[in-house]
Amino acid sequence: MKILSFESTCDETAVAVVEDGRKILTDQIFSQADLHAVYGGVVPEIASRSHVEAISVLAQKAIDAAGIKKSDIDAVAVSYAPGLIGAVLVGVNFAKACAMALNVPLIPVHHIKGHIAANYLAYPELEPPFLCLAISGGNTILVDVRSYTDMKIIGSTRDDAAGECFDKTARVLGLPYPGGKPIDQLSQGGDDRKYSFPVSHVADHPYDMSFSGLKTAIINLVHNAQQKGEELDKSSLAASFTKAVSDSLVPRTVDAAKLLGYSKVVVAGGVAANSRIRADFQAAAEKNGFELFVPPLRLCGDNGAMIGAQAYYEYLAGNTAGSELNAYATMEL
Ligand code: KG4
Repeated sequence: MKILSFESTCDETAVAVVEDGRKILTDQIFSQADLHAVYGGVVPEIASRSHVEAISVLAQKAIDAAGIKKSDIDAVAVSYAPGLIGAVLVGVNFAKACAMALNVPLIPVHHIKGHIAANYLAYPELEPPFLCLAISGGNTILVDVRSYTDMKIIGSTRDDAAGECFDKTARVLGLPYPGGKPIDQLSQGGDDRKYSFPVSHVADHPYDMSFSGLKTAIINLVHNAQQKGEELDKSSLAASFTKAVSDSLVPRTVDAAKLLGYSKVVVAGGVAANSRIRADFQAAAEKNGFELFVPPLRLCGDNGAMIGAQAYYEYLAGNTAGSELNAYATMEL
């Protein structure tokens, strides 16, 4: 089954063709990051307009690159929530028009379920159930993935998402947006014990997380140093900050996997690209004897293929939509 899939929830316009949920025939991505960099974050209005400009060109490019005809498309899928509402609407409307024109089913996909499904593309042997830590720019959640479509959140951030914390920290350090990758690069060779940052715990909710204290701590440290005219060791600062994020994520995930009795742990989302977090998960997997699945770098961030992968399993579960499908800024998993 060949699914033409669309992703436009934030600042990437992405169109893919995926076969049977596991095989990428093409995965076209147009990143708007350069358009937003000057503002230090995503400007929703600019994002929506850029999606409108890119989506039809990218859809044709995807069909050509997949080497298929429009008549070969068996279904159309779209990431319909959560995200920047104006941006999501562009993808949803375009996908609805495609499904109608091609007379094929329309499959709505939850963006975070898509991130989790990115792992199915990389690991043919991976099947639920498993525990997943989904870490992106807008979400940080621990998910009990009971089946391809039945999932339960067992812990989440109470405030900022991990990616948001990377982006804000990068900003205060004068690094470009999005800040995750520049911090990752800056931290290489830094001393992760030079600066001490808080790792928060939410009373009586061991699987919930909080990153606002860490964000405030780093902002205060940088501002204090600026006021005193002190030079900071930015590489060690980036390394110490990343250690604090990783220390907040990895042990919690290990504990949750033990609690649920899972031997498979999956990591998903843009922050899963972080080299320190990947290394810490690898070490934890070896120490605790669980199988670890982390997407290759190109499948960590937003992409259309992950939507096509999840869409296949949504279709098998009977989760299709009609032309009344709407876009949503927020949505339960
Ligand atoms: O999953 P994603 O592409 O978009 C959302 O669905 O939110 O995640 C984007 C986030 C950004 O906050 C970005 O700074 C972060 O992923 N990110 C990273 C790295 N690469 C991207 N964070 C830490 N280390 C990285 N190497």
